[in-house]
Amino acid sequence: MVSIAVLGYGTVGSGVVEVIRTNQEIINKRAGNEINIKYVLDLREFEGDPIQNILVHDYNVILQDEDVKVVVEVMGGVEPAHTFVKQALEQGKSVCTSNKEMVAKHGAELIRIAKENKVNFLYEASVGGGIPIIRPLISSLTCDDITEVTGILNGTTNYILTRMQDKGAAFEEVLAEAQEKGYAERNPEADVEGYDACRKIAILTSLVCGQQVDYEDIHTEGITRITDKDFVYAKALKSSIKLLGTYQRIDGKAYAMVAPMLISEKHPLYHVNDVFNAIFVHGNMLDDAMFYGRGAGKLPTASAVVSDVVDEVKHMGRNIMQIWEPGKLELGNFAEWKHKFLVRIQSADIDDVDMEDVKNAFGDVLYVKAPGITNETAFITKPMEEGTFQEVIQHFTGVINTIRVGF
Ligand code: HSE
Repeated sequence: MVSIAVLGYGTVGSGVVEVIRTNQEIINKRAGNEINIKYVLDLREFEGDPIQNILVHDYNVILQDEDVKVVVEVMGGVEPAHTFVKQALEQGKSVCTSNKEMVAKHGAELIRIAKENKVNFLYEASVGGGIPIIRPLISSLTCDDITEVTGILNGTTNYILTRMQDKGAAFEEVLAEAQEKGYAERNPEADVEGYDACRKIAILTSLVCGQQVDYEDIHTEGITRITDKDFVYAKALKSSIKLLGTYQRIDGKAYAMVAPMLISEKHPLYHVNDVFNAIFVHGNMLDDAMFYGRGAGKLPTASAVVSDVVDEVKHMGRNIMQIWEPGKLELGNFAEWKHKFLVRIQSADIDDVDMEDVKNAFGDVLYVKAPGITNETAFITKPMEEGTFQEVIQHFTGVINTIRVGF
């Protein structure tokens, strides 16, 4: 029998207990051992819930119990989670977590400590919720040079953008609806400003490059400036608008960003709607692959966490090798990254925008007409460096919006 402890009895923590209790037999069989939840740590009381019998409030009880071989950290936030995880690894206990903030910030350090102590630190649920993506990157796609990882990594924003597209509704209206349904937090900043997706693409980029990528270095834009009219243009271009987190290696340099982008109906990520997430991977041998599923939610996330528990029980006393070195990876200069841009400019009619000015500034562009939209001119530039585009666009008045043409 292997004893485990669950830190945090919130949505994911209670999901972990439910997954283990519901699929106990099958999980034990696959782990090759009986998994016993010995403790749940939480500051609160849960009167009337059988969990109360194994509830502890003092982390030292877990830390000092040699019987506990796996610690499941599902508290969230960087501290005290990071300190608790570090202490557990140093005590020779494996740890698994769904905590993307902690993994993005301290992943390299925790992987090193786990290795030194011949235990494991796994974090499948930190990116893409229930979707297997970390384990495929560590264990399956080991023969490929991975040159691109692009994901819809945030369910809340994907739900909002999908509803805006389908209903032709404004961002604020759909956000309010998403909050009512519990899909969006009362304080939606981390999701709608792209911070959550940024942590996740930082983790994936670190893993693919084998080196620490600081999320602070990743250019991040959210979806708050996207309007229903942008979707009319997207439709005219046989495209959608998705919040994408992307890592690309171009001319030997690693680039990463999070931003809403136009994506063509020919790309598989175009078809990923509502709260679903997906991660598209390109390898030089593999070609294209995509991992799709529920990126959040109690049971899908808990399913990924428990899959780490099973892996850790299967690998007792042996560290699963993963390469994520602490030395910081310098990303390519964002200002030099090239994209095409959709530009929308206010104008009484198309002749009001001086086409010569546009040509002088952007070279040849493709003018776009969107049904029912008047008083503006829109065009798509050729691929331009970010820095050049930002410099040039400043000289135009009445710019309504600019959106990168992603794929
Ligand atoms: N707020 C996140 C999302 C939860 O909407 O995807 C999962 O990390």
